[in-house]
Amino acid sequence: MQMNLTGQRVAVLGAARGIGRAISEEFLREGCLVYGFDRELDPAAPADGPVMTVGDATSFEEVGAFAQSVGTVDHVVFCIGVGSGKFGFPFWKLAPGDWPRVLELNLITAVNAAHAFAPILAAKGRGTLLFLVSVAGQMGSQTDPPYSAAKAGLINFMQCAAKDLAPYGVRVNALSPGMVKTDLNESVWRAGQERLAPEERQDYATWGGEKIRKVSPLGRWQTPAEYAAMAVFLASEHARNVTGQTVNIDGGQVMHS
Ligand SMILES: NC(=O)c1ccc[n+]([C@@H]2O[C@H](COP(=O)([O-])OP(=O)(O)OC[C@H]3O[C@@H](n4cnc5c(N)ncnc54)[C@H](O)[C@@H]3O)[C@@H](O)[C@H]2O)c1
Repeated sequence: MQMNLTGQRVAVLGAARGIGRAISEEFLREGCLVYGFDRELDPAAPADGPVMTVGDATSFEEVGAFAQSVGTVDHVVFCIGVGSGKFGFPFWKLAPGDWPRVLELNLITAVNAAHAFAPILAAKGRGTLLFLVSVAGQMGSQTDPPYSAAKAGLINFMQCAAKDLAPYGVRVNALSPGMVKTDLNESVWRAGQERLAPEERQDYATWGGEKIRKVSPLGRWQTPAEYAAMAVFLASEHARNVTGQTVNIDGGQVMHS
């Protein structure tokens, strides 16, 4: 299938590592001009990667300056996500004071990106906006309540943005991972282990393998490349009738009846 994205301009927030990096590289392979934004660069990143801007997405000024520097844009992909670093089950293991920062890192950062780029996309009269969310935002996930609530909020905001931007020819969707081997996923494992006695602790591979067998009907890890393939498809004209959707790539972990 031809995606026909050659020469299009793509902004990826959270592009330095993990899923955002894989998405950036896939758009580059499609012949796009990719502009990345991240709070830190990966010194081992290849020289032919995206043009990177260092900034903190909790700052609307920094995200806005990035949007202005990119100028006209066809597609925006928001891939930032950060856990609380604590195991939040039952939820009172966390304090109310743990919430604001996690909501800021996962929800307000996305709102900043939407505010910075929506006027640019609307003025162009076409394009797409894609948010990485999580299975945790679609169920009462017993791992990290403020992270889950932020992702649920982001799914709702995505639908609102999809309705607002539809008259301008701009499509807005969400892509929802389950279990992917990245820094973020490893931080969830680490937070869970810290509460256990030494003899109960598991290495990352054992923990992940057991969790996937328990929660995912297909029973295997998802990979960053699977999100990259879907991100490129959703940006293409093949998806011209897809907006306001949460696309789960999670081995069947979330199924809405
Ligand atoms: N890995 C998983 O299992 C999993 C599961 C469900 C959802 N997700 C979601 O997928 C998306 C990508 O996650 P990932 O696993 O690739 O994580 P990751 O930790 O590998 O990458 C996240 C990137 O965001 C950047 N970032 C974090 N805070 C930032 C800030 N304030 N400003 C600018 N950049 C910032 C990091 O530097 C990093 O490059 C996230 O939205 C995450 O919530 C991941």
